[in-house]
Amino acid sequence: MSTIERFKSSIAAKKLKVGVIGLGYVGIPLALSIVRAGLPVLGFDILESRVGELLSGKSPIKHFSDDDIRLGLEQGFDATTDFSRAAECDALIICVPTPLNKAREPDLSFVTATMDQIAPHLRKGQLLSLESTTWPGTTREVLLPYVTAAGLEVGTDFFLVYSPEREDPGNSQFSTQTIPKVVGGHTANCLDAGKALYGVFIDTVVPVSDTATAEMVKLLENIHRAINIGLVNEMKIVADAMGLDIFEVIDAAKTKPFGFTAYYPGPGIGGHCIPIDPFYLTWKAREYGLHTRFIELAGEINAAMPGYVVNKVVHALNKKGRSLNGARVLALGIAYKRDVDDMRESPSVFVMERLRDWGADVAYSDPNVPVFPKMREHSFDLKSEPLTPENIASFDVVILLTDHGDFDYDLIRKHAQVIVDTRGKYRNEADVVRA
Ligand SMILES: NC(=O)c1ccc[n+]([C@@H]2O[C@H](COP(=O)([O-])OP(=O)(O)OC[C@H]3O[C@@H](n4cnc5c(N)ncnc54)[C@H](O)[C@@H]3O)[C@@H](O)[C@H]2O)c1
Repeated sequence: MSTIERFKSSIAAKKLKVGVIGLGYVGIPLALSIVRAGLPVLGFDILESRVGELLSGKSPIKHFSDDDIRLGLEQGFDATTDFSRAAECDALIICVPTPLNKAREPDLSFVTATMDQIAPHLRKGQLLSLESTTWPGTTREVLLPYVTAAGLEVGTDFFLVYSPEREDPGNSQFSTQTIPKVVGGHTANCLDAGKALYGVFIDTVVPVSDTATAEMVKLLENIHRAINIGLVNEMKIVADAMGLDIFEVIDAAKTKPFGFTAYYPGPGIGGHCIPIDPFYLTWKAREYGLHTRFIELAGEINAAMPGYVVNKVVHALNKKGRSLNGARVLALGIAYKRDVDDMRESPSVFVMERLRDWGADVAYSDPNVPVFPKMREHSFDLKSEPLTPENIASFDVVILLTDHGDFDYDLIRKHAQVIVDTRGKYRNEADVVRA
């Protein structure tokens, strides 16, 4: 039996162990979906604390409960920091971070660190899949050399694929299983093995011709989003100057049953993906002498949004004869989007920093972030403020930055002295400042 036939028949018999490397927002739901489908999973992470937490049945992520983790453990999930155990796995899926460095260039150090850790333990018959978002060519240019250096022949006795993650934390409409998954293989056999693996726990697998195409698919999806959010943020500024409500405009436009997709403005863009991934393409395109002007422009507009919001706060205070310096300001919602606890690249933090720089006394309230977390580049020694009537009323201005479902919007409306709303929650209310 050939290696590919053996791989596929052990999948069919569900006798295949899957290693998931990087147990974060992507790795955890992925691991849980795989064990639910009946394949054992060994999760790998460099953080002892993360592994310990999961093994004791605790969820590190808000939208998964401790019960979800405990059920996963019962169904065959295990976790370790011992990367030599990669040899036990028949398939290895990498979901580690791919951020930008200080010069806003791709930082693949987490991926290469992973490869350094697992390379000595790669063996014949395995499949290796990269899911982290990255520039087109990464699997071929960065991962493949590790595999060939290990003496393995890709396509014959080892399978290499790229399959971009499409996780949307907090989205209850779709799960890992029901979101179609794009897969590209380094060779036809690699694609075949990838389709067989993902087919066990994903309803719809979408094959593409190679790994670089799959890498480009993910970038197109995220760039599409970054640019359309940039566009609608620009439209918001124009609409506001004309005395129009952009949210009313969008709601009416989206009744068009074709050719229009609704995107919503806000205080900027956040999360691990949209502010970061487009620049992976910008960087790679330079190698081809090409400039990604749409990406740069959208980045510029989106990055200017926190400043726009702060100006609105200054104007709102000014109208009351107050200056920002010395004003008590409450930021509502500091996670980067509704109903998540993820603070990465959150525009709320940029707004809070600018307000603090200009002398405001800044506080925040976020039901999902009880204590301001340690961040690499931002620091606030703050805890989430309780939203009692007295407390709300004690702030000179309240800025709605992230529209969590748990906020009591009527209570806020009733007691806040001034509201600056970046999310269109308070429509048709003349005294609420749109930002
Ligand atoms: N979060 C999302 O919604 C989302 C959606 C689509 C794609 N992605 C992409 O998926 C990738 C992972 O993102 P995430 O949000 O899950 O990140 P995350 O920070 O939540 O999790 C990454 C995990 O990897 C671990 N890790 C870091 N280096 C490691 C190493 N060398 N070996 C093993 N583990 C290591 C970290 O400790 C952490 O637990 C990124 O490329 C991201 O762009 C994320």
